[in-house]
Amino acid sequence: MSNSQYDELPRILVVDDEEAIREILADFLSLEGFYISTAKDGKDALEELSRSHYDIVLSDLKMPNMGGIELLETISHQSPRVVTVIMTGFGTVETAIDAMKRGAYDYIMKPFKMEEVVHVVQRGLEKRKLEVENLRLKEAVSLYEVSEAIAANLSRDEVLKTVTDAAIREIGADLVVVILRDQDGRYAERARSASSEFTNSAIGGVLSTDALDEFFKDDDIFLMREESGLRFFEIVPNGPPLRSLMVTKLGVAQRTLGYIAVCSFVAGKVFDEGQRKMMSIVSHRAAASIENARLYEDLKLTFSQTIEGFVNAIDKMDRYTAGHSEGVATYAQLLASRLELSQEEVEVVRQSALMHDIGKIGCSLNLNKRGRLSHAEYQVFKQHPKYGKEILDPIKFLAPIIPGVYLHHERWDGKGYPCGYRGEAIPLIARIISLADAYDAMTSQRAYRRPLTHKMASQEILDNAGSQFDPNLAKRFIEVLDEYRKRCISRNRSVPE
Ligand SMILES: [Fe+2]
Repeated sequence: MSNSQYDELPRILVVDDEEAIREILADFLSLEGFYISTAKDGKDALEELSRSHYDIVLSDLKMPNMGGIELLETISHQSPRVVTVIMTGFGTVETAIDAMKRGAYDYIMKPFKMEEVVHVVQRGLEKRKLEVENLRLKEAVSLYEVSEAIAANLSRDEVLKTVTDAAIREIGADLVVVILRDQDGRYAERARSASSEFTNSAIGGVLSTDALDEFFKDDDIFLMREESGLRFFEIVPNGPPLRSLMVTKLGVAQRTLGYIAVCSFVAGKVFDEGQRKMMSIVSHRAAASIENARLYEDLKLTFSQTIEGFVNAIDKMDRYTAGHSEGVATYAQLLASRLELSQEEVEVVRQSALMHDIGKIGCSLNLNKRGRLSHAEYQVFKQHPKYGKEILDPIKFLAPIIPGVYLHHERWDGKGYPCGYRGEAIPLIARIISLADAYDAMTSQRAYRRPLTHKMASQEILDNAGSQFDPNLAKRFIEVLDEYRKRCISRNRSVPE
């Protein structure tokens, strides 16, 4: 297949019910270096147009079955890039002008001189060439924008949305379906989108993955202009017939991640080489981004598994405070979400809260003993924020959570440890965790006392706002806790009494 349809001879479709005229025009225009095909009426012409691409349609005005005006209107709707020229008998200039108002590029009066026909055809081709160049430029710009949007994304679903939107908007697809392979090698549909023209009607179908895998062993793209695509795409019964199908493989290295199918259900709307190239580039970009998104998800999973492992280690150190890490994380996340922090920042607060007591691992103490710690033991225990920092310091990707771990025992009045920082010199993350830590500790059972009620613990926090705690933060914390308790109670979830 040629690289571009535009490298071929200019293609002209001559439509006339008089055989003699068809033959004369075909002979003459062939000699002038054009590729010519003929049709005997509008209906015949539309069939030919749905099979092959043409640059210009030269059509008679009055024909049986379907006349020139109706043909013209259908072409301008279905294949707006095709240039149309109307041929009409003497005395019907008004009709010819009417045809031009409806989208015809020019008209030729019968009987015509051959030079005149060639002249009109050449001007039409010139116009089309300009249009094609404009279109290519437009396509290059939108392709660049789509590529950038795909590459800028680390979420698989957003990558897929960008791809389906681009296929509808830039390619003019009626339906786009994306299927992706899961870890077991099974395919599942991950995105589907239809153009506004079709959203309410039953178009669609199912991709046949076996046929696709077989075909795409040694190809990256498949473009069908006729019914032969049906072996890849089983359309819904009673729906409109499939007119054009383009399937691209989402491949990374030697692996197939999935397929993108782009469908047309409009007669005469057939995907061309330019659109094929565009989808090919979009698919390559999308495959790389989908793979990146997967790697990123894996990394996030590794990250949360690492944290879970640490949390288990902390809980094993001290049976009295098992579950404390989770509790502190829940409260810290509640407060962080209320402040104007980004989702990522809230997540850092949550992770830091989960790990805030990791340094207990470094304290050679029996934290499971009954009763309070002795003074000497307490001095060792006070080292845990510092040990926490030391444990996490070598793990670079945990760097953002260290300030919360290291400074969660600092106090607003500067009397905390290990640094004795005061007021806003204490990072926000540590001030948040300090509140969450105190509330969870007070409302939980300890070896030496019973849990405090919510009311008592809240009062204790408010009493210490401005000395131990950041006063504004303390107030907000009690507000979010009250709302949280109400939500939990209405859903029968357990909360401190
Ligand atoms: Fe602590």
